[in-house]
Formats: sequence, C-alpha cells, structure tokens
Amino acid sequence: MSVLKVNICGVEFKNPVITASGTFGYGLEYARFIDISKLGGISVKGISYNEVRGNPMPRIMETTSGMLNAIGLQNVGVHKFLKEKLPLLRKYDTRVIVNFWGKTIEEYVQVAEILDNADIDMLEMNISCPNVKEGGIAFGSDPSMTAKVVSECRKAIRNKPLLVKLSPNVTDIKPFAKACEDSGADGISAINTLLGMAVNIHTRKPYISNVTGGLSGPAIKPVAVRMVHEVSKVVKIPIVGMGGIIRWEDAAEFFLVGASAVQVGTANFVDPELTLKIVDGLEKYAKSQGLSNISELTGKVDLSK
Ligand SMILES: Cc1cc2nc3c(=O)[nH]c(=O)nc-3n(C[C@H](O)[C@H](O)[C@H](O)COP(=O)(O)O)c2cc1C
Repeated sequence: MSVLKVNICGVEFKNPVITASGTFGYGLEYARFIDISKLGGISVKGISYNEVRGNPMPRIMETTSGMLNAIGLQNVGVHKFLKEKLPLLRKYDTRVIVNFWGKTIEEYVQVAEILDNADIDMLEMNISCPNVKEGGIAFGSDPSMTAKVVSECRKAIRNKPLLVKLSPNVTDIKPFAKACEDSGADGISAINTLLGMAVNIHTRKPYISNVTGGLSGPAIKPVAVRMVHEVSKVVKIPIVGMGGIIRWEDAAEFFLVGASAVQVGTANFVDPELTLKIVDGLEKYAKSQGLSNISELTGKVDLSK
C-alpha cells in the first residue's frame, strides 16, 4: 500500500489515517472491534502529569450531525499510561502519538520531558481543549502564550517530533499556526472542537453539566477545511487535518487544502470500522487519480476562477 505511505515530521506512517485523541481511548479499547494494526496511527487520549477524573455527567450529547462533549480531559496520568497502557499498545503495528496537556507551562514541560524518553513515535500538544478551566484553551487563545508554551516544551523535547493542536475558537487561526512554527513545532494538528451549547426545552437546563461543550463531527467539517486551508497559507511545516471526517471523500478534501495526514474522531463512535474504510477509499482514489503517492494531493486545491 505504498501509495498511502506518508512521512510526517520524519516519521513514516503506513497510511495517513490516524484516530483522533479522546475518541479512541488508549487504542486498546478498540482492538476487539477492528484490526488497529491497519491504522496509520493512533493519537491517544490527552495525558497529563496526574490522573484526572474529568467533569461530572452528563458530558456527552448527540447533536444534529455531530456531538457535544465536555469530558474534561479525563486520563490515567502519564506514569500509569506508560506502565499499563503503552506496552500493550506497542504490540500493534501502528504509530503511537501521545496527546498531552498541562495546567501550567511547567506541567506541560514536565509531561513532555517524560514522554520524550518514552517508547512513542510523536508528541501532540493540546493547547485547545475548551472543556477545562486551566490549561488547554488558555494557552491556545493568545498567540504570545502559544509561543511561550511551545518554545518551553520545544527546549524539553529532544528526541521526538512535536505537533501542536490548534483551537478553532479564535477569530483568526493564522497567527497561532505561525507562532507554533516560529517556536519550534514540527507540525500542526487542526482542529480541536468548536465551543457549543444545547438546552433541553422541557427541563430548561443545559444538556451538558458543564453547560458548554466541544462540538465535533460532520457539522464542523466546513469550518475545519477552511481553517486547514488558512493554516497551510502561513506555515511550511506539515498539517494533520481533522474535524468531521467520516468518509474517504472528507479525508481527500483535507489533503487538497493542505493536510499531509488526517485524524478521524467522532466517526469512531458511529462505526469503529469507518477509519479502515477511509484507508481503503483513499487508496482507490489515489490510484484512480494516477498518483504515485497520496502526498501529491496535499495543497492541490484549484482556486482558479
Ligand atoms: C469525546 C471527545 C474527547 C476528546 N478528547 C480530546 C483530547 O483529550 N485531546 C485533544 O487534543 N482532543 C480531544 N478531542 C478532539 C478530537 O481529537 C478532534 O480534534 C475533534 O473531535 C474534531 O474531530 P472529529 O470531528 O473527527 O471528532 C476530543 C473529542 C471528543 C469528541
């Protein structure tokens, strides 16, 4: 399947389809549903230094063409992840990307240093979670804070490529992407969820206990495609595109606007096999287009009038 082989920030992926953080657990949860070795990679649930229990329920609801979630970055903490989850995940033939976050810059650096020496392929720094009070979005909604947290982590990360995952909850995503590139990021992941809210008209209460949540799924795809397009105009580093991908055609769109790989999130809740169908569809499409490699599609959107 060499037509789908891609190199992202120096790491070779057998195909460019990666499961998105938070929608595929630690990978292992899905291993009984699909052959996870057929995936290009897995981006695991966002890891912090200490274990986090997340927000109170209800924290997920289905919306028209998508879902709202306010999980609150629940995770087992970096030490338990490395001891109990990673060794099992490494038995599969797929790339492991570890999504991580912190409540302070010091905590980002602390987690990054530990992961830099772990048996993983790549780091993905989340500065864009809308569902926690500290950390996440606080660093992703001010370009100077973005620059600071990325450059501090960059100093700590010596062995692994660093992706930085951007928030769509900003007026203009371009300065954030540029700040990441200038501060030493090796690649950009875009996008995280869009801040949303839904109210039950009978109880008059918000559906989500956190009141607001992150919107994902097909509803956000046009926003994500536009943002990846904008990011590709201002950076030279690779972009991993995501937001609402459920079919191979969606993935192909992201390539055309500048992505070098894609992540699939909410679709995993609908049908865990969709990722493999996307791999299949992309391969057939690439061949039918006469491409020798899928990367020839990156940034090839035709904007002529
Ligand atoms: C339930 C849930 C949990 C998520 N947790 C994380 C997370 O821990 N870290 C992160 O960077 N993104 C997280 N995300 C965002 C996704 O990785 C992805 O960026 C977003 O959902 C858009 O892609 P999609 O429309 O394909 O789901 C989460 C999304 C969902 C739906």
